[in-house]
Amino acid sequence: MDGNGRWAGKRSLRRFLGHQQGAESVQYVVETASRINLPWLTLYAFSLENNLRRPKSEVSFLMKLLKSYLVGNVKRMNDNNVRMAYIGRTHDLPQEVQDTMQWAMESTARNTGTTLTLALNYGARSEIVDAVRSILTDLTTEAHTRGCSVDDLLGAGALEALDESTISRKLYTAHMPDPDLVIRTSGEQRISNFLLWQIAYSEIYVTDRLWPDFNGLHLLEAIAAYQRRERRFGGLGETFTDEDLNNLEPAEQVAAEIKDHLIPKQEAKPETKSDPVLTRR
Ligand code: FPP
Repeated sequence: MDGNGRWAGKRSLRRFLGHQQGAESVQYVVETASRINLPWLTLYAFSLENNLRRPKSEVSFLMKLLKSYLVGNVKRMNDNNVRMAYIGRTHDLPQEVQDTMQWAMESTARNTGTTLTLALNYGARSEIVDAVRSILTDLTTEAHTRGCSVDDLLGAGALEALDESTISRKLYTAHMPDPDLVIRTSGEQRISNFLLWQIAYSEIYVTDRLWPDFNGLHLLEAIAAYQRRERRFGGLGETFTDEDLNNLEPAEQVAAEIKDHLIPKQEAKPETKSDPVLTRR
């Protein structure tokens, strides 16, 4: 949800008005997601870095905005069968914000349509740190219960048993599938610490549109662009079959034909002259 500040700046408005307009966009996008039965929608609403690096006044405005967004929209969430969830170090947010978040989550818990997950006080690296801490804590607890050392457990197979799914199960998103599509607004060509583990194979769609100008139609545009892509997950993709491989020209023949283009021609060595700077005494 990037570009609120720029949206306001372009109109000579204060930054907080950009955030306010951004909160309006959230509801358009959520309701469109619900209309098309999108099962999961995750919005990066407030990062750990936002919390640490933005002026206190802006952080406190964002907290108030979040609270009033939740209070003002729970009914619409229920009308649209949307379930609320959160990821991030939410326990570090102000208590009254946590209370409202809890209330909104409980009030929408029975909905079965889109799950709207707000990433709040979220950072992907700290999520991975939390996962590793939790794995180590589990290991220590198990060693304690069995009356042995962590070393004993590692030697008895715990090390080999640790794999990608162990990490995935410890992330805040353990209950969710990895995202298919990441949409980045305001033209930024970076990930900014968002779901780093989970987006290993996600498609990325960057739009120059600023978040407050992004609405349901633009969500549909992004999804349409995604649907035109071919995903390979490190493989060859559906349109490339064994038959294609078999029908390829023999690799050796191709290599012989193109070797002149592949192997750099031996450059004529420039005459070696002594460097006047390096040799000057
Ligand atoms: C990034 O824009 C946006 C944020 C840091 C906050 C987003 C929060 C909201 C829209 C409102 C609260 C959340 C909900 C779910 C109602 P930016 O300020 O970095 O914009 P800029 O890059 O143009 O300065």
